[in-house]
Amino acid sequence: MLYKRIVRPILFLMNAEFVHDLAVFWIKVIGRTPFIHKVPQHFLSVNSRLLKQSVDGITYNHPIGLPAGFDKNGQLTRSMSMFGFSFMEVGSVTALPCKGNKKPRLWRIPKHETLVVHYGLKNDGCEKVASRLARHKGSLPVGVNIAQTNTGTPVNLQDSVEDYYASYVKLEPYADYMVVNISCPNATCGQQFLQADNLDVLLTKLDKVVSDKPRYLKLSPDQTFSGINKILNIVKKHNVQGFIVSNLVKDRTKLSIPQKDYSKVGVGGLSGSVTREMSTKVIKHIFEQTKGSYTIIGCGGVFTAEHAYEKMKAGASLVQVYSGFIYNGPTTVYNINKGLIKLLREDGYGSMQEFRESVLNKI
Ligand SMILES: Cc1cc2nc3c(=O)[nH]c(=O)nc-3n(C[C@H](O)[C@H](O)[C@H](O)COP(=O)(O)O)c2cc1C
Repeated sequence: MLYKRIVRPILFLMNAEFVHDLAVFWIKVIGRTPFIHKVPQHFLSVNSRLLKQSVDGITYNHPIGLPAGFDKNGQLTRSMSMFGFSFMEVGSVTALPCKGNKKPRLWRIPKHETLVVHYGLKNDGCEKVASRLARHKGSLPVGVNIAQTNTGTPVNLQDSVEDYYASYVKLEPYADYMVVNISCPNATCGQQFLQADNLDVLLTKLDKVVSDKPRYLKLSPDQTFSGINKILNIVKKHNVQGFIVSNLVKDRTKLSIPQKDYSKVGVGGLSGSVTREMSTKVIKHIFEQTKGSYTIIGCGGVFTAEHAYEKMKAGASLVQVYSGFIYNGPTTVYNINKGLIKLLREDGYGSMQEFRESVLNKI
C-alpha cells in the first residue's frame, strides 16, 4: 500500500534507468551489511515445506525468482534475498563489455503495467562479472544468463558462437545454472539463434563444455509454435535441460496497446502484463509437446499468486518476476508466496511434488 500510494508515484516521476541504477546502488550497499539486509529478509521470506522443491538438482525454497535484467552485472547476489526471492539470475552478460544502446532506453507505460526496454545488452563483460561472482556468493541459487556481445554490427555465425562459448566457459564455474539467451530483442544478432540451423551450431559448441550444471535456453514470446517445434527438435540432440519462457515481446502488433499509448516511449521490447498470456501459451505448448520432459521457468507478466499459479499449471516448475516487482514493490514475492500456499491448499495439494505429478498427469 505504502509503496503503491507514496513511493511508486515519486519514483515514477523520474527517469526509469536513473531509478533502476539508484536502486541497484542502494541494494548493493545494503548487501555489504548483512545485519541490515537480514531484517527485511526475515519479514519477506516465506519458508513453507509446501513450496520447497528440487529442480535439476538445485533446492528452491519456493518457486519465485528474479529473472535476468535487474542485476546485469552480478552486484546484488548478496542482497536480493532480502526481497524474499528464492533464486536470482544475473545478466545478460556478454563476452566483451558493452555500453548498450543510446539513452533513453527504458520507459514505463503504467496504464498497461509494462516496461519498454531498449538497453541493448549493457553490461560489464564476462571477465569482470566472473570476478565479482567469485567474491560475492550470497545465500540464493544464482543463474547466469549469457548473450552475444552487441557490437552494433552483424557478426558471422562462427564468431557469434565463439562469443557465447567464451562467456559460458568464464562464468559457468560461478553459476548454479546457466542460461543461453537467444531472444534479446534489442541487439544486433540478438535473435539469430532462434533459427534452428544456427542453434544447432551453437549447441554443438556448448556441448563441449563439461559440466553437470543445468543449461537452459531463454526463448522469445513472439515465436510461432512451428518455430518453437523446430527448436525443440534441435534441442533433443543436445545437452539442454530446459527453457526460460520467455523474454520481452518484440512484435508490438501482437499486443493490444493502442498506438497513442506508445507516444512517450521509444523502440524496444515490452515486459509486464502485456506479455502474460503470450508466455503462458508458449509454456503450455512446450510442456505438452515435450510431455513435461524439460524444466520450464515461466516468466512474463506475473504480478500475483494467481498469475504464477497459471504458469505453474501450464507446466512451469519455477516462475520469475521482474515487472511485477517494479510495479508492486518489495512485498511482491512475499504476497505471491502467501497466495500460492492458499491456492495449493485449496486444490488439495500437500507438496510441490504432488502438484507437479497432477500437472503431468493432465497432459
Ligand atoms: C529493464 C529490463 C531489462 C531486461 N534485461 C534482460 C537481459 O539483459 N537479459 C534477459 O534475458 N532478459 C532481460 N529482460 C527480460 C526479463 O528477464 C523478463 O524476461 C521480462 O521482463 C518478462 O518478465 P516480466 O513481465 O516479469 O518483466 C529485461 C527486462 C527488463 C524489464
